[in-house]
Amino acid sequence: MKKIILVTLSLFASLNLANAEDKVAAIAHGKSKFMMCAACHGMDGKGLKLGPTMMMAPGYKGSGVVDGDPEIFALVVLKGIKKEGTEYLGMMAPLGAALNDKDLAGVMTYLRNDFSEKKDLVTEEQVKGWRAKYKDRTEMVTRAEIAALLAKSDAPKKAAGPKVPEKSE
Ligand code: HEC
Repeated sequence: MKKIILVTLSLFASLNLANAEDKVAAIAHGKSKFMMCAACHGMDGKGLKLGPTMMMAPGYKGSGVVDGDPEIFALVVLKGIKKEGTEYLGMMAPLGAALNDKDLAGVMTYLRNDFSEKKDLVTEEQVKGWRAKYKDRTEMVTRAEIAALLAKSDAPKKAAGPKVPEKSE
């Protein structure tokens, strides 16, 4: 009995270790691809300022997308965000073609570990699954859709981006 417990424990330990190593590798790879995001979100992930008030893109801190259900995060980066406001000069373009599964998993892991409260690993396999799931989708994601998805997910949190514009009747 003792032996089984020991074997089980060491199995868990080595699994955790493997996960930790994967995470370190994913973060390093993500960092190497981060320039693609830093162009608008800033090297420090705080959003690139253009003059005293205008920003290229929002910062990642406190973003419910970066922190929340990784599937929603992946969807946003794969398909981009429909531009509905003028709060930011930049636009969140669809980056699915610019990042392969390993790149996106790395960037997501890097952001979740360095710019958010989540400290988990997003794997290449997960990204592969989400890419396949949304492969036929061509429209960008709307702010309203992001808000609805976040509200439905386990960790509802507000997105950092601009509010959904009120519908004029
Ligand atoms: C050309 C500029 C640009 C680039 C490059 C860019 N983004 Fe964005 N991103 C934006 C803008 C602008 C928004 C806000 C869009 C909106 O809400 O209308 C945004 C929003 C986001 C959001 C949603 C934040 C929230 O909480 O609402 C995430 C996540 C995100 N970007 C991740 C990334 C990642 C990861 C990369 C690199 C792989 C990247 N972006 C590259 C401009 C950019």
